[in-house]
Amino acid sequence: MTIAVGIIGVGVMGADHARTLVNHVPGARLRAVTDADGARARQVAAETGAETVAPDPMAVINDRSVDAVLIASPDQTHRDLTLTCLAAGKPVLCEKPLAPTARECLEVLAAEVKGGRRLVQVGYMRHFDPAYMEMKAKLLSGELGRAVMLHNFHRNVSAPTWFDAKMAISNSAVHEIDISRWLLDTELTSVQVFKPKIAGMAENGAPVFLVFETAKGQIVNVEMFNNAAYGYDVRGELVCEKGTISLRSPIHSEVNTGLASTTFYPADWRPRFADAYRLQMQAWIKSLSDGKPVGASAWDGYVTSAVGEAGHQSLAEGRSVRIALVPKPGLYD
Ligand SMILES: NC(=O)c1ccc[n+]([C@@H]2O[C@H](COP(=O)([O-])OP(=O)(O)OC[C@H]3O[C@@H](n4cnc5c(N)ncnc54)[C@H](O)[C@@H]3O)[C@@H](O)[C@H]2O)c1
Repeated sequence: MTIAVGIIGVGVMGADHARTLVNHVPGARLRAVTDADGARARQVAAETGAETVAPDPMAVINDRSVDAVLIASPDQTHRDLTLTCLAAGKPVLCEKPLAPTARECLEVLAAEVKGGRRLVQVGYMRHFDPAYMEMKAKLLSGELGRAVMLHNFHRNVSAPTWFDAKMAISNSAVHEIDISRWLLDTELTSVQVFKPKIAGMAENGAPVFLVFETAKGQIVNVEMFNNAAYGYDVRGELVCEKGTISLRSPIHSEVNTGLASTTFYPADWRPRFADAYRLQMQAWIKSLSDGKPVGASAWDGYVTSAVGEAGHQSLAEGRSVRIALVPKPGLYD
C-alpha cells in the first residue's frame, strides 16, 4: 500500500520534508504540494518530482487521491488547516506548534475526540532523535535509578529582529517542554521564567531561563538562547539517583592540527535533527499503514502550548505560575 501525501507550505521545513519523503520513505509518494508563493511550490515540485502543484491548501485536503497531509505553513495557519483535515477524515502531520494558543489547540482536540480516532501527529520530531531515544531507553532500564533533574540547553546562531522573549518560549523552548514531558513521562506543574539583565544586550534573541517542577517532584530547566553566535547547539543532562546521562550533539569529524582539536557546529537545526526528521516521517507513514499512531499527539500539542502560555504569564508577572490543564480525554491514553 502506497500512501499519497500532500504538503501544504514548502518553505524551509516543507521543502526539506518533501525531499525526505521522496528520498527516504518507502511506501509513500509525493502527490501534491502547495504554497502561498506559487513559484516556490513549482520549484519544489520540479526538484522533488511532486505529481501536482495545487492552487491552495483546500485543493490538497479535498483531493480524493491525497491520503494524508503534511502541514508546514506558518504557525497561525495550523489550527484551521488541521481542523479541515479532520473534517475530511484525513491523517495529518502538523509541524509544531499544533496552534499558537492552548485555546486553539483545544478546538483541534475536541474535533479529533468527536471523530473518535487519532488522526493528528504533531511534528515534535525529537521523539525520534537517536540521542534522546538512547537517553530514554537508559532511564527506562532502571540502571541509574529514578530521574531527579533534567538540564536542557538550546542555542541558535542568531535571531531575527522581531524575535522576543515570548517567541523564545513558544517557538523554540517548546521543543524542550515537549521532550522533557516525553523523557520523564510526566507533566510539568509549574514554571518560572528568568531573564539575565545585562546592560545594552540586544533584546531580540536574548536568553530566557525556564525552571519547571514536575508531577513526579523533579526539577527541569531550559536555557534558551537564540542569539548565541557560535553555532546551533542542543545539549542536556539527565541527573538520576545513581548517575547521569548526557545528551551530546553528534560529531562527524574533528580537525587536529597545531596542538589543537576542533569540532564543528551546524548553522541551524536541520543537520542536527536530520535523522529525527527522517525517522519521524518514516514512522508516520508506517503508522498510517498499520493503524498504530506514533509520535506527539494532539494532546501533547495542546499541553506544550499551554505550558508555553504559562511561561509567558511568568515572564510578564515575574513569578512562578501553576500550569493548569484540562482533563486528558480517553482517546489519548
Ligand atoms: N520541527 C522543527 O524543528 C521546526 C523547525 C523550524 C520550523 N518549524 C515549523 O515549521 C513551520 C514552517 O516553518 P518554516 O521555517 O519552514 O517557515 P517558512 O517561512 O520557511 O515556510 C513557510 C511557507 O509557507 C508558505 N505559506 C504561508 N502561508 C501559507 C498558506 N496559508 N498556505 C500555504 N502556504 C503558506 C510560505 O509562502 C512559505 O513558503 C512553522 O510552523 C514552524 O514553527 C518546525
